[in-house]
Amino acid sequence: MRNIITISVVLLLLLPSCNQQPSYRIGVSQCLDDAWRQKMNEEMERELLLHPDMTLYKRIAYGNNELQCAQIDSFVSERVDLLIVSPNEAEEVKPAVTRAYKAGIPVIVADRRVTGEDWTAFIGGDNYRVGELMGEWINGVRNQRDEAGGHVKGERGKKSALQVVEVAGLTGSTPARLRHEGMKDKLQALCGTDMPEVHTVLGEWQKEDAYEAVCAYLSEHADVDVIVAQNDLMAIGASEAVRDSKGYGAGSIRIMGVDGILPGLQAIVDGVIECTATYLSRGDMVIETAAKILSGAPYVRDTVLQTTMVDATAARALLMQHSERLHDLQTLHTLQVRSDNLWKQMRADKAVLITIIVLVCLLLFAAVGVLVYLFTRLSTEIRQDILPHLEEVEQTLETIQLSQRDVAFAERLKQIVDEYVDSPDLNVEFLGTKLQLSRTQIFRRVKTVTGKGPLEYIRERRLIRADELLRTTDMTIQQVATQLCFSSPGYFTKCYKAHFEHLPSERE
Ligand code: FRU
Repeated sequence: MRNIITISVVLLLLLPSCNQQPSYRIGVSQCLDDAWRQKMNEEMERELLLHPDMTLYKRIAYGNNELQCAQIDSFVSERVDLLIVSPNEAEEVKPAVTRAYKAGIPVIVADRRVTGEDWTAFIGGDNYRVGELMGEWINGVRNQRDEAGGHVKGERGKKSALQVVEVAGLTGSTPARLRHEGMKDKLQALCGTDMPEVHTVLGEWQKEDAYEAVCAYLSEHADVDVIVAQNDLMAIGASEAVRDSKGYGAGSIRIMGVDGILPGLQAIVDGVIECTATYLSRGDMVIETAAKILSGAPYVRDTVLQTTMVDATAARALLMQHSERLHDLQTLHTLQVRSDNLWKQMRADKAVLITIIVLVCLLLFAAVGVLVYLFTRLSTEIRQDILPHLEEVEQTLETIQLSQRDVAFAERLKQIVDEYVDSPDLNVEFLGTKLQLSRTQIFRRVKTVTGKGPLEYIRERRLIRADELLRTTDMTIQQVATQLCFSSPGYFTKCYKAHFEHLPSERE
């Protein structure tokens, strides 16, 4: 009984855990935590709504290579099912990525590449093309300046070269290197001998670093025409540096950035910078690829995302689209919160239901137990106490029935004996014939009902009849003795005396 209860309870408790899909743990190692990274994280989280079997675990390295390597190593020792890495610097983070890959964990490298081939898939922007767009824009500025006839310097009226400041990201990261190369190559191709002079300062992808670097440069160079920053944050930092630099002032240098997400677009619309090149993060695509890898479906190993130029008009359009999307996202979020609440409610209801089922089962088991106990007790009582009594009652009933039969037999016996009391034929055989019983039965039954033998009983009835005749008629003792078949008057007298305890002559 107790075993059945235990098994049922265990089964009921296991019930909710059945029917669950396997869950994948995905480690995400982000090099930074700026607006662009946050957008990528949000895109991943949103895509995850379509993949409830995956859970993300994010770690941020804050631009620190060693920290990022340690974080990747800990993901490996925790045996995550897949790793997404945006490496801070390619060479420095490569060993940890290789370790993860060699440990059999699929690795998706996102945005910044690592050197070598120890990764499962790559998704990131076309940084060389981004650089080319920068080069094209610088060339455009140069052409405009020439058309306007500006900046003619030198003794023989020779045009001075366009002065460009490039604010570079972290030099060890692939985007910084590729953007720089793309820009240089493009300028080379477009400008030929009239190459702008490009001076590179380091902004480390950060607004504050860019501000410092540009301020320092401008304080020593009075003739800067153009600033190209390798991301919008650094472009904004550079614009503030221009505003704050002596001899320049707000808007005095044309500035281009890269990324084309909210802060950059707003800066363009506000006239803080002039343009940007889009650099997509596509966290959704990263998760989609992760799902394909985990499920063994075919996937694209190397995905390079396209880029395009964004001027003020495009920035305004993108901002409008952005606010529309924001509204959609808010609706989505509200729906998600509602569905989460519904799930919570359902889970709570399920728990209550299971508790009720368990309680009902326990009650049923208890009720069955009590019934079995009562039944066992009752049957024991019946066997021990009631059945013996029943047997007694049955015997009593039988006795009663018997005695009823005996009474009837005694009456019938008396009737026959009294009817044939003066007949010489009245003997045991005669009674047997009349009562349809054997000789033995006559003896046994007459004895039972009268306590006497049949002949004794007949003699007694004859004496009672004789006494009656003597009292009610004028018959003599001899006549009576003869009539009632006594062998002699002497014998009659003897029997009479034995029964009535006086002589027949002495009767009243
Ligand atoms: C964000 C960021 C972007 C840039 C990219 C390069 O952390 O600095 O602004 O385009 O990384 O990897």
